[in-house]
Formats: sequence, structure tokens, C-alpha cells
Amino acid sequence: MKVAAVGVGYVGLVAAACLADAGNDVMCVDNDPQKIDLLRDGEIPIYEPGLTEIVKRNVTAGRLKFTTSIKEGVDESLLIFIGVGTPSAPDGSADISAVLEVAEQVAESMTDYRIIVTKSTVPVGTHKLVSEIMASKTDHPFDYVSNPEFLKEGSAVDDFLKPDRVIIGTENPAVREIMKQLYAPFMRKSKRIIFMDPASAEMAKYAANVMLATRISFMNELSGLCDTFDADIEQVRRAVGSDSRIGSAFLFPGVGYGGSCFPKDVRALTYMGDQKDCPMTIAQAVRDANYHQQDRFADRVLNYFKDKKDITIAAWGLAFKAKTDDTRESPAVRCIQKFLDAGFKVNAYDPEAKPAELEGRIKTTTRSYDALENADALVIFTDWQEFRNPNFDLITEMLNSPVIFDGRNLYDPSFIKKYGIEYHSIGRPT
Ligand code: UGA
Repeated sequence: MKVAAVGVGYVGLVAAACLADAGNDVMCVDNDPQKIDLLRDGEIPIYEPGLTEIVKRNVTAGRLKFTTSIKEGVDESLLIFIGVGTPSAPDGSADISAVLEVAEQVAESMTDYRIIVTKSTVPVGTHKLVSEIMASKTDHPFDYVSNPEFLKEGSAVDDFLKPDRVIIGTENPAVREIMKQLYAPFMRKSKRIIFMDPASAEMAKYAANVMLATRISFMNELSGLCDTFDADIEQVRRAVGSDSRIGSAFLFPGVGYGGSCFPKDVRALTYMGDQKDCPMTIAQAVRDANYHQQDRFADRVLNYFKDKKDITIAAWGLAFKAKTDDTRESPAVRCIQKFLDAGFKVNAYDPEAKPAELEGRIKTTTRSYDALENADALVIFTDWQEFRNPNFDLITEMLNSPVIFDGRNLYDPSFIKKYGIEYHSIGRPT
């Protein structure tokens, strides 16, 4: 099939590359000429495992092309995917201006029937708005599909190639059939495609993300209670997760969730509820609990060094989670800002991430152990694999006094004790 993908962020680029890999002709469109030039040279503007290989392979095969012209994409393709950003507006709503602008330009470029497929996370009801705008700009017929994306950063390619399910929101049976064919290469069982109306598809995306954020936040709150009762959240997690009705995924307590999706989508769902006078009280509480979790972790470090001067913290991990260079709404950034405000110095190491907000304010190192030099404590924010089994002898030797604050529960407390390290983790007896 002939497909255009407008917006080459995580969602758009991964979808485009994977669709090309299944034999489709895909034209990627972005209004950033620098990004397009990079991609034409086979360079990927984001860090995402496996993506470079799949992009290069399909560029070489001639199935994946790049342009800055929406008109070119629309001329050559039956299906136009929209995967542009929908960031939080100051009032918490999702800013869909980029989606609407693209829809308008697509409509103005159309010379024949087209299918518009929205992959961006958009507020419920956006399908109506987009359809209205397009109808006002073109006399050519079109169909609209809400096709929310569920891939995770760090495993985006795998998630796209082997999805748990694909949601197709359109009422038109002929379009459902086309979408089914497009996704057939990625489906091991056809029941994994779930057809519904566009409003439900839009809602399903928020429901999934906010449900996951709720699970994490509930575990994070419980971890605080475990601290006060000397219970162990990891044992509680195993017990709770073994109930097949609950399941074990996304129950890991930590320093709080971050990223470009959960925080934004929790806010947007809360906003939608307020708009419709149907308060989303759980989403609101999840948002508050998540900030509380981050602040509680930072405060533990700050309180530990209360009344001490010239404190240097070694921070491992700046990205909001492992396997990504993304620092959007990263708990590490929020906590480190608090350390800096308290007058602490911070040496940080992350294999991929470089948060612009902290540039010039922290010292970054290119090797994990270099961050420990002259530091008073090691604080772990991100669950990178390379932090899971470190050289504890070296850590003990390098830190001024061996203290670890672990925001990801990476280590076994009884194992760490052997090294004489003072170990503070999340919801586990010290
Ligand atoms: C999330 C969803 O998982 C995807 O399904 C969705 O497509 C995506 O948002 C999106 O809307 O685009 P992502 O933000 O890439 O994906 O990352 P996750 O793996 O979901 O992690 C989100 C945050 O939760 C991270 O900060 C992570 O460290 C934290 N987390 C995750 C926990 O604290 N505990 C867990 O058990 C799992």
C-alpha cells in the first residue's frame, strides 16, 4: 500500500519504518528540513534501539522516503498517517494545533479520495473537529480513522512489530478492511485487531495510559506506607501481581513515572473531565501522587544531608526510564533541580540522555564511575541495565562515605549490606 506519515517523532518514524518493512511504500513528511536531511542520510534524530537498522534497510530498498512537502506525501499515498506531537497546554489540555494544521494542509493538497489516520494521542472528539476542518477545505471525499499507538519508548520497534492489539476507530467497513490488510503482517491472531467507533478509540488510548499510571502510582503510595510499617513493597508487589486478575506488569514502585505520555495524558484526561463536568478524580489523584513520590525521594536525600555543607551527589540516570535518551518530565530532572536549589553539587552519568534544563548546572561524565569522584552519595534515578550489577567495591571505595539512594530498587538490600553500604530504596526496610 502507499502510505504517508506526517511527523517523524517516535510514533511517526517507528510506524513509518515498520510499515515500510512490511513491504509498503512509505513517504515520511516533516516540516523540519534538518530532520529530513538527517534521515535521508540514514541518521536517526532520536535514540531508539533497532530503529536505525530498520530505517536504513528500508531506505536502501527504496520503500522509505522523506520529504518536507505534505503535498508530495498526499499525492503519492492513499493513507495519510498523522503522528505529530500533542503536548500539554498550560491549562493541562492536549494542544492539538499541530494535528489540525496538518489536517488542513492534507485537505488542501488532496486531488482525490484519501484516508486520514490519526496516530497522535488526541482528546476525545478530535475526529469530529478534524473531519469538519477537512470538509471545509476540500470537496474530495475522505475517511477518518482513529488508530492510537501503544508503543513504548525503548522498545518501540518491537512493540509496533508485535502489538498486544491494534485499535481501529472507524465506522466504514471498507476502510476497516483496508486497515486490517495494512496491519495483517503484524498480527499473529486476527482478534488482536479491535474495531470500534472513533470516539471510543480516542478514549481507549487515554484509558490505557491513565490505567497504567494509576497502577504505578498506587504502588508508589503503598511503598510510602510500607516504609512506615517496615513492610517490603517488593514482596507485596509479587503477591499482588500473582493474582491473574491483576497481573504483574507495571507494578514496579520507583521514583515516579515520567516521559512524554503518562504525565501529559493524565493531565489531559483530568481536563476533559472538568470540561464536561464529570470530574476524573482518580486521574487528578494520580497526578498528585506522582509529584509526591518524586518529592518524597528527593526530600529523603535532602534530609539525610541536612545541616551538612558542600555536598556532592553522584546521579546515575537522567532519562525518564531506561533505553531512551528522553528526559521529558523525567523524575531525575525534577529531583536534581531540588538538589541544586539546596546548594548541592551534582555529577551525573547517563548512557544516552543530556537534559537541556540542567545544562551548565551539573557536571556530566562519560563513564558511570567517574560521577562518583568526591561524591557523598550515589542516587539512582533510571533503571539502565548497566546499573544493575555494578562494582560495589569500587563504589564503596570512591564515595566519601558509602551511601546509595536507589529510586528503582535495583539491588537486594541484604547483598548490599555485605559491602558496608548504607542503602536506601523504595518501600523496603533499610
Ligand atoms: C507509555 C505507554 O506504556 C505506551 O503504551 C504508550 O504508547 C506511550 O506511553 C505513549 O502514549 O506514547 P512510555 O512513556 O514510552 O510508554 O514508557 P513506559 O514504559 O510506559 O514508562 C512510563 C513511566 O513509568 C517511566 O517513567 C517508567 O519508569 C515508569 N514505570 C513503568 C514505573 O515506574 N513502574 C512500572 O512498573 C512501569
